Amino acid sequence: MFINPNWRILTIGDGDLSFSASLLNHHTPKKLTATVLDSLETLTKKYDNKAYQILRQHHCEVLTLFDVTNKKTWSNLKQNSYDLVVFQFPLIPAFSSQDDFHQHCSQANISVNTLNRHLLRTFLINTFSHFLDPKGENLCFITSKDVKPYRDWDIENTLLLGIKNDKNLISYLGQMNFDINHFPGYKIRNVDRDKHVKNTQGNTYVYSNQTHAELSKKLMIPDYAKASLSDTYCAFCRVGPFYSHQDKLEHQSSKRHKKMTIFHNQWLNYLNLS
Ligand SMILES: C[S@@+](CC[C@H](N)C(=O)[O-])C[C@H]1O[C@@H](n2cnc3c(N)ncnc32)[C@H](O)[C@@H]1O
Repeated sequence: MFINPNWRILTIGDGDLSFSASLLNHHTPKKLTATVLDSLETLTKKYDNKAYQILRQHHCEVLTLFDVTNKKTWSNLKQNSYDLVVFQFPLIPAFSSQDDFHQHCSQANISVNTLNRHLLRTFLINTFSHFLDPKGENLCFITSKDVKPYRDWDIENTLLLGIKNDKNLISYLGQMNFDINHFPGYKIRNVDRDKHVKNTQGNTYVYSNQTHAELSKKLMIPDYAKASLSDTYCAFCRVGPFYSHQDKLEHQSSKRHKKMTIFHNQWLNYLNLS
């Protein structure tokens, strides 16, 4: 992940705050505000407050009970004052009970896949409307894993579907490898659990509403995500190239493709775009 020390950075949903503490210690951004969804009490019980203490010792602002989807929880944030907003390994919180799951999913006829896409879409929209300084760098990073269920969210292609905002259109610029070795001390946390994740491989997906010639040189767009190659790849499933029409038809009748099509249709339905 490329970080410029001149950037003013806001981190979202930072679990035990160890990513923010590492960012501060090893990348020394011009300004850093770290946020977590939990209260400080819950965070301390779940993990420890080591990273919190490091951030506070350096007079770094830490906001707790910060829900990126709920404006009412942002009252202590200075809005429109950041160059980069980062959400590392986003995932909706676990349901507290069967009833909770029933209320949010079965009853509402919404899948967990759709709820995760909704979290990311709302994160992107709020980032560009409320967190980034329009006169700054206007960058947003999402780091996620290329394994199920995360890869089923189709992060590169569908989060911003149907947004009519021609002047400041948010675009996906490409991705870079996330190498945890550049963030000593960072422990990727499981949502709602004190365990940390051992498989640390991930990709950082980059969004902006302006062009970034220098940064774009460090990014790549895989062939499956290139509009020009959409005939020979399946962007949903991240596979290809298909060498024949038959090859493509066989893929389209595969279990994986059918499942991704269901997720996609659920998402379009949720957005009222179907
Ligand atoms: C898999 S954990 C990753 C935690 C941390 N970012 C890391 O890299 O270790 C997913 C995180 O997303 C946060 N999250 C989920 N929904 C959120 C929301 N609406 N607003 C802010 N954070 C949220 C959770 O609190 C949790 O810490």
